[in-house]
Amino acid sequence: MSEVIKFAIIGCGHIGKRHAELVEEHPDAKLVATIDPLSSESLQLSKFDVPHFSSLAEFLSSGIVVDVVNICTPNGLHAKQAIDCLNNGVHVVIEKPVAINLADAEQILVAAEKAGKRVFPVVQNRYSTVIKWLKNLVVNQQLGQIHLLQLNCFWNRDDRYYKKGSWRGTLALDGGPLYTQFSHFIDVLLWIFGDVKNIDAKFFNFNHRDTTEFEDSGIVTFELLSGGNGSINYSTSVYQNNFESSITVLAEKGTVKIGGQYMNNIEYCQVEGIEHPKLKNQENFNDYGGYTGSASNHQQVIDNVIRSIVGSENQDVYLNEGIQVVKVIENIYKNTMVNRNQSKIFLA
Ligand SMILES: NC(=O)c1ccc[n+]([C@@H]2O[C@H](COP(=O)([O-])OP(=O)(O)OC[C@H]3O[C@@H](n4cnc5c(N)ncnc54)[C@H](O)[C@@H]3O)[C@@H](O)[C@H]2O)c1
Repeated sequence: MSEVIKFAIIGCGHIGKRHAELVEEHPDAKLVATIDPLSSESLQLSKFDVPHFSSLAEFLSSGIVVDVVNICTPNGLHAKQAIDCLNNGVHVVIEKPVAINLADAEQILVAAEKAGKRVFPVVQNRYSTVIKWLKNLVVNQQLGQIHLLQLNCFWNRDDRYYKKGSWRGTLALDGGPLYTQFSHFIDVLLWIFGDVKNIDAKFFNFNHRDTTEFEDSGIVTFELLSGGNGSINYSTSVYQNNFESSITVLAEKGTVKIGGQYMNNIEYCQVEGIEHPKLKNQENFNDYGGYTGSASNHQQVIDNVIRSIVGSENQDVYLNEGIQVVKVIENIYKNTMVNRNQSKIFLA
């Protein structure tokens, strides 16, 4: 491939640095700038040897030619920054979630259509071998009618994570555990099983009343549009470590559980005509110094961004899929947005 795609990274914290490294390593990509209000020195960006800007406006008016800006800032900033980039004729990669409310997410779509530019939501768990395996089972109708689904997301986020003064734990910039910790798994649910309706939910705050502006746990029930019922049980209050993220499917022609800390192992497979597959487990997870998060498949995200821009392959994840995740989470939170840490929350 002869064309080199030029990237800038906005938000150079944990995940932004990983984006920068992957762009630098890619033979068909070039990093042209980093953007963050914190200095290049404090963020240890000198190894990238590119100009550093303290604001997006400063970068966009610098005259530096760029094809894509990767938005790796706190969640609540994604929509405005994406719209500013699109309005300047630049494609955007947006770290999950694309926004923390539906109205903002839809404004990104309006801007993208007006600019004729692409938006790439980052949901790298879709590249996980076991997730792709489950998707194929469902697409090929090997499970028959789905009866019950159970999505369990049980992780630990404690004072090591919710530090004073940080964007984490705030309604305005973080949005809550379904946006920040578990939107990957809601994306997996929707991608494989389709849309949901008749959502009901209950929330709890076991351990984070002094550190976050929202619940730390919840129980959600829903119906699949395609038939079948499901539940999401989630918590960031697990003692000391991440425990599991799993999906269990009870269906007409089989039962499957994908589990592990990061939805990375096939733990049970009893399906008509299918043997328990021996798939290589996903072993790399994003490490944020003291706590770990989801599968580290960002290389494949960057690869797909480049190939779709040059036209050699289709885009893997479209903005409307990122918007759908926001819509479902907003529906789950619907009656609690007024004050998620008080009246409408069932305090434990
Ligand atoms: N896909 C994944 O698995 C994954 C993993 C981690 C984080 N994320 C997402 O990436 C985003 C960042 O998370 P993180 O863990 O890297 O956070 P972080 O706090 O480590 O980094 C955020 C960076 O954004 C910078 N920033 C703040 N305001 C800014 C502004 N106005 N303009 C430019 N930069 C600004 C901060 O100074 C900081 O360096 C979040 O949306 C998070 O949900 C996704």
